[in-house]
Amino acid sequence: MRVLVTGAGGQVGRELVAGFEGAGHDVVGVDRGRLDVGDRHAVLQAVEAVWPHAVVHAAAWTAVDACEADPDRAWRVNALGVRHVVEAARRVGAHLCHLSTDYVFDGDQAAPYVEWDRPNPRSTYGRSKLGGEAELDAGATLVRTSWVSGCHGSSVVRTVLRRAAAGDELAFVDDQRGCPTVAADLAAKVVELVGARLPGTFHVTNQGATTWYGLARAVVRAAGLDPALVRPVITAELDPPRPAPRPANSVLDNAALRLSGLALLPPWPEAVDRLVRRLRQA
Ligand SMILES: NC(=O)c1ccc[n+]([C@@H]2O[C@H](COP(=O)([O-])OP(=O)(O)OC[C@H]3O[C@@H](n4cnc5c(N)ncnc54)[C@H](OP(=O)(O)O)[C@@H]3O)[C@@H](O)[C@H]2O)c1
Repeated sequence: MRVLVTGAGGQVGRELVAGFEGAGHDVVGVDRGRLDVGDRHAVLQAVEAVWPHAVVHAAAWTAVDACEADPDRAWRVNALGVRHVVEAARRVGAHLCHLSTDYVFDGDQAAPYVEWDRPNPRSTYGRSKLGGEAELDAGATLVRTSWVSGCHGSSVVRTVLRRAAAGDELAFVDDQRGCPTVAADLAAKVVELVGARLPGTFHVTNQGATTWYGLARAVVRAAGLDPALVRPVITAELDPPRPAPRPANSVLDNAALRLSGLALLPPWPEAVDRLVRRLRQA
């Protein structure tokens, strides 16, 4: 397959390029410098120049707090940009896989969210990402994931390692629950779903759930340091408060994978251990 990956400079995009290449596909990765997805003409031109069999759309404006201050940019990149990519993929007959987020949910539900639960985003980022989801054709693959960390770009795992090494204070909220996900594991599942051209929504995360505090402790422990270095706080104590509200519960049940008999990703503690080892070797 010839695969075009947008957002190829991002933490997931870089793993997607590696994952598709590793599976023997011909990959063209485009980063923001080469393609602004908010520019319809540029998107149509870029996709037609490659004429791919599949497009994986990983470009997004992911700065959740900054989105509150500049909603137009969020809508342009995260919603209008998807419209452009959908149109371009349709023109060349490519299968489209789009990435979205747990932040489309409000977090008020006590149970994990399945793919058929009703989204109700609270933040501008979440609303703009839901707007992007609404642009998809019925045959597209929609992959919602959460709390992603990888070897590239900024993530909570890399932040914890850097701050722990510098002896900085490590305070993380203990009242937001989600599923940590390692970018390489996510990318491998996207390669599989795109290869099978499976339509519909799939929640794809490493298995198990924790809080940001639980994740930070696991990272510190995996780095051979004392988990007691991490202090729990609650969201209401954050000073200053963060501009974008986060869901208290955004645990994603990977129900569509599970009920289709497809393999789930490994448990998050194992995946995070592996990532920390890779980052410390780098
Ligand atoms: N990270 C997470 O925890 C998480 C959780 C759930 C879902 N997701 C979703 O997963 C996907 C990949 O996210 P990620 O973690 O890889 O985020 P990321 O590291 O921020 O990557 C996104 C990439 O998109 C690029 N981009 C921004 N504006 C663009 C534009 N106008 N045109 C083209 N490219 C543009 C960014 O470039 P610059 O860096 O140069 O701006 C960046 O390289 C996104 O759809 C995101 O919503 C991520």
